[in-house]
Amino acid sequence: NNIYLLKFKGFYFHCAAFDTGLSENLDDFEIRDDDVFVVTYPKSGTIWAQQILSLIYFEEHRKRTENLEAAHRVPFLEYSSRDIDFGKRPSPRLFTTHIPYYLVPRGLKDKKAKIIYIYRNPKDVMCSYFHYINTYPVFKAADTIEAFMKQFLEGKVLGSVWFDHVRGWYEHRNYFNIQFMMYEEMKKDLRSSVLKLCKFLGEDLSEEAVNAVVRQASFENMKDDPLANFENTLYRGFGPKLQEGHFLRKGTIGDWKNHMTVQQNERFDKIFQKQMKDFPLQFIWDVNETQN
Ligand code: A3P
Repeated sequence: NNIYLLKFKGFYFHCAAFDTGLSENLDDFEIRDDDVFVVTYPKSGTIWAQQILSLIYFEEHRKRTENLEAAHRVPFLEYSSRDIDFGKRPSPRLFTTHIPYYLVPRGLKDKKAKIIYIYRNPKDVMCSYFHYINTYPVFKAADTIEAFMKQFLEGKVLGSVWFDHVRGWYEHRNYFNIQFMMYEEMKKDLRSSVLKLCKFLGEDLSEEAVNAVVRQASFENMKDDPLANFENTLYRGFGPKLQEGHFLRKGTIGDWKNHMTVQQNERFDKIFQKQMKDFPLQFIWDVNETQN
């Protein structure tokens, strides 16, 4: 069980991060001022942010004149150094990572580079994660939501404890040049979210270009687009799927209501309230539901 997980400095990585040897030297990884990082806890909208960033920065992606997957245009810091010589990449370099605030390269803590941190209702994260681990044999770890909830709350998953990840990044935000984005807000108004990102990144796109980003970053478009839906990357990494699941599964807000029992929800809420007590980051998951 969980043989793919490897704990390093208190955080669960995929063991592939250690094949590359990079994770052990993350502290010294050289950061440029114009680097941009997508940071997420898994299942919070990582590939979505990768697609948006790739569309913002690469005209050839917007115009589809080149066949490179978004996941490779905005590659994982901790999993890609086997394939990519980051030092030779032209600026601005785009990266993705799941690492916690305390493991990042030193340069990031000096406010070099920009960070986009995406967070999502942890109940939806948990349900998305549950389907994900049951789609790929390498992750197969829990038959029921009940069993997975235990693993998730104990942080025995890639990404470790959700509460620690979000709290850690938010409480240390002043060390970083960071923009927090909420999945639910992106879902409700993608255009405003894209414009907010462009502003943060200092990228002045034409209206036509913004329209192309919004259009090509919609769930429906990404699901059908092999350059955006992550399936090819996963296939190369993990092999064939266990069952008919898709990485871009539903892409909705509040799907947890279709998975969790009233009792599980109450238990989760209690832990959430305890862990996130006095936490200032606003969590408004959907119009009918307001927490803290
Ligand atoms: P669901 O399983 O709830 O559908 P990550 O990339 O961090 O692993 O997150 C995957 C989740 O983000 C999946 O959630 C996936 O469907 C959702 N997602 C990906 N692209 C999306 C988009 N364009 N709009 C909404 N949700 C998206």
